[in-house]
Amino acid sequence: MTRIIDITELALRDAHQSLLATRMALEDMIPACADIDRAGYWSVECWGGATFDACIRFLNEDPWERLRTFRRLLPNSRLQMLLRGQNLLGYRHYEDTVVDRFVDKAAENGMDVFRVFDALNDIRNLQRAIAAVRRTGKHAQGTICYTVSPLHTVQGFVDMAQRLVEMGCDSICLKDMAALLKPQPAYDIVRGIKQACGEDVRVHVHTHATTGVTLVSLMKAIEAGADCVDTAISSLSMGPGHNPTESLVEMLEGTGFEARLDKCALKRIRDHFAAVRPRYAEFMSNIHGVDTDIFDSQIPGGMISNMESQLKQQKAAHRLKEVLIEVPRVREDAGFPPLVTPSSQIVGTQAVFNVMMGRYKAVSGEFADLMLGYYGAAPGERDPEVVALAEAQAKKPPIECRPADLLEPEWQALREAAIALPGSDGSDEDVLTHAMFPQVAPKFFASRAEGPKNLGKAPADSAAAAGGAAPAAGSAGSGPVRAPITYDVSVNGRSHRVSVTPVG
Ligand code: CO
Repeated sequence: MTRIIDITELALRDAHQSLLATRMALEDMIPACADIDRAGYWSVECWGGATFDACIRFLNEDPWERLRTFRRLLPNSRLQMLLRGQNLLGYRHYEDTVVDRFVDKAAENGMDVFRVFDALNDIRNLQRAIAAVRRTGKHAQGTICYTVSPLHTVQGFVDMAQRLVEMGCDSICLKDMAALLKPQPAYDIVRGIKQACGEDVRVHVHTHATTGVTLVSLMKAIEAGADCVDTAISSLSMGPGHNPTESLVEMLEGTGFEARLDKCALKRIRDHFAAVRPRYAEFMSNIHGVDTDIFDSQIPGGMISNMESQLKQQKAAHRLKEVLIEVPRVREDAGFPPLVTPSSQIVGTQAVFNVMMGRYKAVSGEFADLMLGYYGAAPGERDPEVVALAEAQAKKPPIECRPADLLEPEWQALREAAIALPGSDGSDEDVLTHAMFPQVAPKFFASRAEGPKNLGKAPADSAAAAGGAAPAAGSAGSGPVRAPITYDVSVNGRSHRVSVTPVG
């Protein structure tokens, strides 16, 4: 008997976040949507993570409009997002009613599957978001961030899965952001979850390809009973990205498992992104191919590119190796948190500080908060000396409670701050955008009417043809702003209006 394996396609979110620094413009995804919608995926991950930030920071694109566009163009697909629990998509904890509003608005604008995680695996930070998703009737996926440390065991991950199921999650995701998940632990954890929680509890597995071992891990997870695995179309796969969708499909042949995807649609999706990807060459990670050093450093691909750019800004790109050695030491001092946004940035930045200025000579505000419990409980003991340093620097005591319990209701104040801004439309969506990115949103609101920027460069030949006529074309980091063209697109007999900005 053949068991169907479900697939989540990552091309529209994590794939370009991992490979192209999240810079892909919506207009470069739109032409692939019809094929993605008919390929037969269980879900299409297309929002959340760093895409919201990148939209308003770099692309002058309204992330809510991006979501609504996907909703229109992917009418048969479950849309999936990555949500950082109580942090939403920002970098601090939000008061509970703000979390509720965000989830309501995301659901209202078309989101179906909410993959909710906390960087520290502190489930108190997931509770409110999971409850909010359940109230909307959408799919609440509780996430376990996989990591390796002396404290992390198969049983520990299985226990966490049980707590997530008890909390009411519709499925469990085992999320391996750094490609650390080797085949045997993948098998053991998935089997453990199925045995402890019941065979009918859906288990999804998310891995990256960076270390070269994880396509095998997906196979073992499938053998252990995983219901759904995450892949990216081949032309946006591998390196710090993910395993290729087409390879997963082929790998299953003759195994008794089958991913029923439309291969012709996959080819067209592949060809589309193969043509788009080279235009974003300047944003591509320096990490190519396979890197097994990650098994020692445990640093996810996205985090390495962040640290690379921090070092470059300080003209110290050559010190990356030292930083990679410092990261595990900082992580141990912090009680072995998994390294995923925001803990990856916080630990990574502190490691850069330690290498550039000496160990803990300067402590970032965020690192102090991490050491003092303001992001939640760490898996293990924090180094008391570093905690004392953090306490002295931050001038506040360590805490044990759920961090959001310390917050006063804040929606009204957030609302007043946002609607006062030039260019704000007064919607709850704008209030949430500003609440999550208070530094970036004012500039975005003010320039929103100019329309999206596309940072992809035209291929060399057509760039030459375009010549000097296009004033901003090719200027690094600030692509040209071009007037959008409106098309009427018919999807399944229904007509939709789509705004597209021309390329090159
Ligand atoms: Co990922």
